[in-house]
This record gives sequence, structure tokens and C-alpha cells, in this order.
Amino acid sequence: MRQSSLVVVANRLPLDDNAAPDGACEWRRSPGGLASALHAILEQTPATWVGWGGGVGPAPALPDIGTLRLRPMSLTEDELRGYYEGFANSTLWPLYHDAVEQPVFDRGWWEAYRKVNRRFAEAAAEVAEPGAAVWVQDYHLQLVPQLLRELRPDLLIGFFMHVPFPPPELFMQLPRRGELIRGMLGADLVGFQREQAAHNFAQLAGKLLGAEGADDAIHFDGRIVHTGAFPVSIDVAEMESLSARPYVRNQARQLRRDLGAHKKVLLSVDRLDYTKGIEHRLTAYSELLRDGRVKLRDMVMVQVAVPSRERVGNYRGLRERIEGEVGRINGEYGRVGEPAIHYLNQPFDRADLAALYQTADVMVVTPLRDGMNLVAKEYVAARGDDTGALVLSEFAGAAAELSDAFLVNPHDVDGLKETLLRALDADPADLARRMAAMRAHITDHDIHAWARAYLTALDHTGGLARHLPRQ
Ligand code: ADP
Ligand code: G6P
Repeated sequence: MRQSSLVVVANRLPLDDNAAPDGACEWRRSPGGLASALHAILEQTPATWVGWGGGVGPAPALPDIGTLRLRPMSLTEDELRGYYEGFANSTLWPLYHDAVEQPVFDRGWWEAYRKVNRRFAEAAAEVAEPGAAVWVQDYHLQLVPQLLRELRPDLLIGFFMHVPFPPPELFMQLPRRGELIRGMLGADLVGFQREQAAHNFAQLAGKLLGAEGADDAIHFDGRIVHTGAFPVSIDVAEMESLSARPYVRNQARQLRRDLGAHKKVLLSVDRLDYTKGIEHRLTAYSELLRDGRVKLRDMVMVQVAVPSRERVGNYRGLRERIEGEVGRINGEYGRVGEPAIHYLNQPFDRADLAALYQTADVMVVTPLRDGMNLVAKEYVAARGDDTGALVLSEFAGAAAELSDAFLVNPHDVDGLKETLLRALDADPADLARRMAAMRAHITDHDIHAWARAYLTALDHTGGLARHLPRQ
């Protein structure tokens, strides 16, 4: 295997293994924020991406994407259950998202989590050239930095957490909490979406492992581990240029005609996940229809909910509840050929997403908790003409940057209803001012700026960490 000077290690590869209708394997771009963000920067960088392509059994060989080499990892059925569906997505994911669903603590899952983290660390060690930078991503791989440091002390090791990192009161519930923090402390730089998360991490490192120092530099094991906030972003130029394409513009016009040319369109685009607040949103919309505050003749909602983690019980239950509710809303308020809500449980390609964004008068992004939420930023990038309103949850990382959105507490259904109405009735000049301010922000803080900021910080810290005397 050839070696690289930059290695990204993430549970997911940017390509997802989907079965085509004829049963053949078909590779598609993975939905999800992490894959979207890293795909955009790595396509033009000589690097290797170590990750899983979905499915069980031996990993298929994959072609390069531009200058990016893919190093696929395999998972067995037991590993998929214990590591991915279990510890990562039934223990850590709900706990890190404010425990909006009850985290499950199953002692059997830890071994699989550790074993898979070790295999990812070994694969990274194999493909990293001497002195390379290895950038480990997200909650699936929290043990990798430490394991990799043991295997390859010559490497510069970064870790970035895409999801929220919870306050000690919540994190302390975790069995194996000390090992998880120790794993992350193997990195030279631990990055988060928000300052508060870096603060939580520093507190936990002190409390659980006796590490000392400040929020941005933790002293542990004779090294300095730097931390900081690096809010992730999108490829603004890509979304802008997609949105300007004639195909996308025609598609948007067609969608508008199909939805009802004179109607206001509310749009939501999410992975089908319980953190996204889809049920609260449907309740708000259905109550507005029930109370006659919005009318079917003036309004239509489109909910795109791409399937996600479908073998995990909570996700199956959520899908059933949402589909039941969509059926109920259409049954009660729709008419023949005129549904109140269009529900699309399918992946879309980027151009079709851009067309959808252009069709939406109000984009409704109301997660109960979200590390960042790139959909909100994509919508802003797609509105080059400064029209459209963004309703955004205060509990999405993006709210800290997009303060010109209509911010809302999604747990408060009455507040959500009022905010939707405000966004629907807003003065076009006010909307244009808000949209222009948000677009200016994301243009300055796009995905390339994010990667540059992180990798520059990693480079600086690496020099420092490696020259410190060991205790
Ligand atoms: P998360 O990372 O939790 O899924 P984000 O909003 O940060 O949430 O990122 C979601 C990413 O997945 C975005 O880049 C979005 O464009 C993409 N995405 C969402 N829904 C779909 C879909 N139906 N088809 C393809 N991509 C999607
Ligand atoms: C979030 C996580 C990513 C993950 C994505 C999609 O964005 O932070 O690590 O890849 O969701 O979830 P999945 O389980 O399909 O990889």
C-alpha cells in the first residue's frame, strides 16, 4: 500500500455501498455532514481516507476519487452490531445529543468498539508516511488517537468531534468514560464545533484523569494536548455554482409548478434521526393547519428524510411514527392531488438538493440538538438572490454563526408555530438583509477555511508537542 502525508480516519468513507435494483453494488456519495464536509476538501488533496463503506464482510477495493485514495475497512456482523449500531450509535450518539433518547449501556459492546478502533489505528499506521499528519474523525473512533500514538509516535495526530461534546453531568454516566477521554488525549489537537465543548473536555480530562491546564492546552502524560473550536462548514462555491446551473433552475421551476405555483413551500431536509426534531416540526405544522392559521390552498410542506441507521431499534420506531403522522396529516388536511405534506424517504444527488433549496420559501431546520447542521448552511449558499427564510434551532451549532436566521427553541411547539408564521409573513427586505448577512458569513467561513484553520493549528501544536521532554 502506498503511503500518504495526510491520512483521514473516519468511520464512513465518502462513498456508500448501496444495492442497485438489480442487486449489483452501486457506490453513492454518503449523506451526512462529515462525509459532505471532508469530501469537498479532500477531492483535491493528495491524501488517504481510511473508513468503512457500509455493509458487512470483506471490504471491496475502491477506485481513487481524484487525488484521494480510499482504504476501505471491513466490519463483521458482530462488529457492526457491537461497535457501530451498539456503542457508537446507541450509547454515545444519544448521550452526546443531550440524551434526547435514552442511551443504552450494554457491556457486551465495548469489546467490539475497542477492537474496531484498534483495527482503524493499525490501518492508519500502515498508510501514513513518516511524520505524516493523521486526522481522526468523530465519536466512533475516540480511542484511535492514543492507539495510533503507541504504534507510530512519529505522527502528528489530530482529532475532530463533529457532534456535540456533552457537559460532565451527562458524560459521567458513561461506563468506560476515562478510557474514552484518554483515547482522545492521544491527539496533538482535539477540535470541537463549539468552545463550550472544548471546555467540557478539559473539565473531564481534569476530573477523570487528573490532567491539568486550561481549556485550550491540557497537560497530560508529559505532553501538551491542544484543544479548540473549529466550526465545520460547506463547500459554498460548489453549492453556488450548482444553484446557477440551468438544469437546477429548470428543476426548481418544475418543482414549484408541481407543488402549486402560488403556494408557499416549507422545506426540511434531514437524515431520519430522532435528534432532528422531525416529530415536533410535524406537530407544529399540523396544529397550524388544524387551527386554520395556515391553509392548504396557500401552503405545502416537503419533508426529505433520508434513511439512516435503519437496523437500530430507535430509528425504526421513529420512522414508523413519522410515517404514521405524515399519513394522518395528509388524511386530515389534504385533498385529492393536493397533499398537505410531501414526504420523501430517499437520497438525492447534489443538484436535486440544490433545486429543492431554491424551491423553499421557508427552510425549517429544527434539530433538538446538532453538532453543526450543514443543511442550514447549504440552504443559505443556494439562495444567491437573497430570498427565502431560514428557521433554525438554537440547539444547532450553526445557530452561533447564523444569528440572522429566525432562531427557535424546537422543544417549544407554540414558539415554533409562531416563528414559522413570522418567517412566512416576513417582509422581503428584511429577508434579503438576513440572507445577505448569512451568506457573507459562510462565504468567509467555508469548508476550505475550516480545513486550513484546523490543519494549520495541528501543524503548530505538533512541533510543540514533539519537542516537549517526556516525564
Ligand atoms: P448530519 O451530519 O447529522 O446528517 P448535517 O445537516 O450536518 O446533518 O449534514 C447532512 C448532509 O447530508 C448534508 O450535506 C446534506 O446535503 C446531506 N443530505 C441530507 N439529506 C440528504 C438526501 N436525502 N440525499 C442526499 N444527501 C442528503
Ligand atoms: C453524523 C455523524 C457522522 C456520520 C453521519 C451519518 O454527521 O457525525 O459521523 O457519518 O452522521 O451517519 P452514518 O451513521 O450513516 O455514518
